[in-house]
Amino acid sequence: MIKIAPSMLSANFAELAAEIKSIEEAGADILHIDVMDGHFVPNLTFGAPIVKAIRKYTDLPFDVHLMVTNPEDYVDEYAAIGVEYFTFHQETVPHMHRLIQQIKAKGMKAGVALNPSTPVSTLEDVANDLDMILIMSVNPGFGGQSFITNAIKKVKQAKALLGMIGNTDADIEVDGGINSMTSIAIKEAGATILVAGSAVFGAEDRKVAIEAIRNSGSG
Ligand code: DX5
Ligand code: ZN
Repeated sequence: MIKIAPSMLSANFAELAAEIKSIEEAGADILHIDVMDGHFVPNLTFGAPIVKAIRKYTDLPFDVHLMVTNPEDYVDEYAAIGVEYFTFHQETVPHMHRLIQQIKAKGMKAGVALNPSTPVSTLEDVANDLDMILIMSVNPGFGGQSFITNAIKKVKQAKALLGMIGNTDADIEVDGGINSMTSIAIKEAGATILVAGSAVFGAEDRKVAIEAIRNSGSG
């Protein structure tokens, strides 16, 4: 079953606890948390203190998407908070293998995100160790951007790669511009987790919005 991960980036930051409760009640499976540093991406959001503060307001698994340079500096901090997925960007790390081991040693799931211009083949030699491949379907930095269709091809490539090496438990997450239309092809391609920011938080009825993405293309 496909999992839906609303992105907190589109929430009202002045009401975070209530916003998270609202998407939990609306049927979200995972909370996607976009940490940006103003260096790797041209936007700045929040860091570990905020993630720590919200941890006690929900039982949803936390999926921390780190759009920061030197993500290795934050492994211990996020592990201590109790986040389930620690996802860093391939483009920020010269020693991916080492970092993946560090994340897993701390009891978190290790994910690697790929910018739209970064090929799936860059993960060939670490794919066996990964718990998640995150295919970006927008250039990271902002919510509300248009879906880049090349992501569909990359999801198929990620699925083929994971299948070839026998790591079929790993998730394939897609992030950016996901709605009830763009989700159809991306699910067919093999995605297992869909991130949606504006399409969920911007909807009048968040439960309807989550269900529309979950059930798109079926029937
Ligand atoms: C973009 C973030 C996404 C973003 C998605 O840099 O990684 O998670 O919040 O927002 P939408 O769904 O509005 O494209
Ligand atoms: Zn994200």
